[in-house]
Amino acid sequence: MAEKIMVLNGPNLNMLGTREPEIYGYDTLADIEGRLRERAAAHGLELDFRQTNHEGELVAWVQEARTTCAGVVINPAAYTHTSVAIRDALVACDFPIVELHLSNTHQRETFRHHSYVSAVATGVMSGFGPHGYELAFEAIARMVKDRAGS
Ligand code: DQA
Repeated sequence: MAEKIMVLNGPNLNMLGTREPEIYGYDTLADIEGRLRERAAAHGLELDFRQTNHEGELVAWVQEARTTCAGVVINPAAYTHTSVAIRDALVACDFPIVELHLSNTHQRETFRHHSYVSAVATGVMSGFGPHGYELAFEAIARMVKDRAGS
């Protein structure tokens, strides 16, 4: 069976395309998901792509990924800067984790400079806009394959 990658999206990312497009771009989350589906198929991986506006739901999904997935890409959005709960859920995972942001959070307000997730992620990708999702997916696919020895 194909190994599964979970791509998790936090609050307000459902509004991509119309939300501050000068910062986040004009692609919708559905556009991004479509491109990742093509990438996943090319790699022979299964894609589980989700978005929620609720912190507890993200925690529950990370817990679910622990037993069902080979890796996680997560854009925790605003919870990046506030959530010890998401950080703790990720720490309990024994697989590669890519933290992803469309914008370069370090160029923005100081409250966005700190991430609770970065220290527990395998790697961080920030500032490449919607294309960052594809870059993050390529990174996780490579790490998952390296781990599997294939
Ligand atoms: C974001 C950056 C966060 O600071 C912000 O709260 C978001 C999106 C990004 O993808 O650039 O909602 O995670």
